[in-house]
Amino acid sequence: MPETRFADIRRFESIDSTNRYLLDEARAGASEGVVAVADHQTAGRGRLGRSWEAPAGANLLVSVLLRPAIDPGERHLATTAVALAAVDAIRATGVVGVSIKWPNDLVDTEGRKLAGVLAESDVASAAAADGQPPPVVVGIGINVNWPADESELPPELTGLAVSVSQLAGAPVDREALLLSFLAALELRAVDLDTPAGRARLAGDLLADCTTVGTRVRVDLADGSFEGTATGISPEGHLVVATGGATRTVVAGDVVHVRAGS
Ligand code: BTN
Repeated sequence: MPETRFADIRRFESIDSTNRYLLDEARAGASEGVVAVADHQTAGRGRLGRSWEAPAGANLLVSVLLRPAIDPGERHLATTAVALAAVDAIRATGVVGVSIKWPNDLVDTEGRKLAGVLAESDVASAAAADGQPPPVVVGIGINVNWPADESELPPELTGLAVSVSQLAGAPVDREALLLSFLAALELRAVDLDTPAGRARLAGDLLADCTTVGTRVRVDLADGSFEGTATGISPEGHLVVATGGATRTVVAGDVVHVRAGS
């Protein structure tokens, strides 16, 4: 692998959560670039307080510690960089038809989930940063070899999840995918450092975002609203037209709804 900032790769056969591990490392002052990868997680974390489950040894469960020197309002672009790097790595296996459902789910052409991204940071680790920019830990779970086929999915995930190997039609080498992802992430992370690079990240998200142009319901902490997703802001946030107004969604759960439903 070419030299990247992601050379310190810490590997675990089993751990509670690679995100939890790197948040603790960040609190202790760890530098940008530390990577944690696990064969299995006993308490894998998903978005919105959900859990993230995957059988041992089948999928890629990886977190990276980033310390982007950017405004707090642009920090979503760090998560975007990870999602785009995962798209880059999956496409490099020959799989086509992968896109991003805002904010950061990777999906196939049928809307089935291939990967999910969870960014976490906390005030305590920001305070302990010792002059370094505040950390953001970005974890991604990529369905690499599980499910092997639809029959392996629990009933509640039927039709909702898919793996890279299913789309590739053959098993996929997890280690090769990890190294390809980290190489792609290096290029994406470089883009975080300049205004032009950040504009490129937002533009690439727009180009690969399946949410834009669709009717959506946005679930926020204090209620929900419906509208049409019309674009991505320079900060990577979702722009939604609703009832003659435009709202920019910084965080929330977005559900694609059929027009008229
Ligand atoms: C989602 O809900 O879609 C996000 C899932 C993120 C899962 C990954 S697996 C590696 C990292 N460690 C965790 O505990 N969660 C993330």
